[in-house]
Amino acid sequence: MGETVDVSLRGVTRRYPGLTALDAVDLEIEDGSAVALTGPSGSGKSTVLHLLGGMDRPDDGTVEADGTALTPRQLDAHRRRVGFVFQRFHLLPALTVLDNVLAPVLPRRVDFDRRERATELLEAVGLADRADALPSELSGGQQQRVAISRALINRPGLLLADEPTGNLDSVIGREIIDLLLSLRERYGMTMLVATHDPEVAANCDRIVRLHDGRIAGDERVAPAPDVLNRLGGLRP
Ligand SMILES: Nc1ncnc2c1ncn2[C@@H]1O[C@H](COP(=O)(O)OP(=O)(O)OP(=O)(O)O)[C@@H](O)[C@H]1O
Ligand SMILES: [Mg+2]
Repeated sequence: MGETVDVSLRGVTRRYPGLTALDAVDLEIEDGSAVALTGPSGSGKSTVLHLLGGMDRPDDGTVEADGTALTPRQLDAHRRRVGFVFQRFHLLPALTVLDNVLAPVLPRRVDFDRRERATELLEAVGLADRADALPSELSGGQQQRVAISRALINRPGLLLADEPTGNLDSVIGREIIDLLLSLRERYGMTMLVATHDPEVAANCDRIVRLHDGRIAGDERVAPAPDVLNRLGGLRP
């Protein structure tokens, strides 16, 4: 089981020639929470994910992980604690399902533990019997399940998903978000999902809304289960 990671943006600005993608954004993603990031196209959602995942650097401000500002030297180590799921599944077409899940490990030797882990993950997403299939033999929802397994191969403490249901119909999209939420509980991860889908957002425990590179809204959807437990078991 991975250690959950909390991440923050502190006064983060990200500029591109002629535009400011993020403007002095402060955002704290609590340990173990499931946060939806919403907002119109171009509002900065993907930029936030890339910064929090250590795949991009701010022009101003700091990105923090577990309370410490990430320096350029720490980025590699940070990225190894992050799993990333994309709208387009980005599977390698010539590799089998199992090898796609193992792809992040492949530059190094795939040891027995990793192979076991990959098999366990394919079981967890309901694709154990398709390990030897090629991506082109799978439906969109199945391909996204493979991509999710791949994102979890290194036991990330933080799962970042960029419109993970954007290429799927609403029924399959719903299955994918349920799967992400259940995997997050099972493996213990902080989760941040950029989405245009209100139903995806409603299933997270907090919704952060971006507009023109600034935070335009931040609401809690429902108390997390552990909060309810602490309140004395309000849940049946
Ligand atoms: N590599 C880049 N070079 C130049 N501009 C960029 C780059 N990446 C993002 N931008 C700009 O930064 C702004 C924020 O982009 P971002 O991709 O974060 O938006 P988004 O909220 O994820 O949008 P969408 O919902 O369409 O995915 C946009 O104006 C975009 O054009
Ligand atoms: Mg985006």
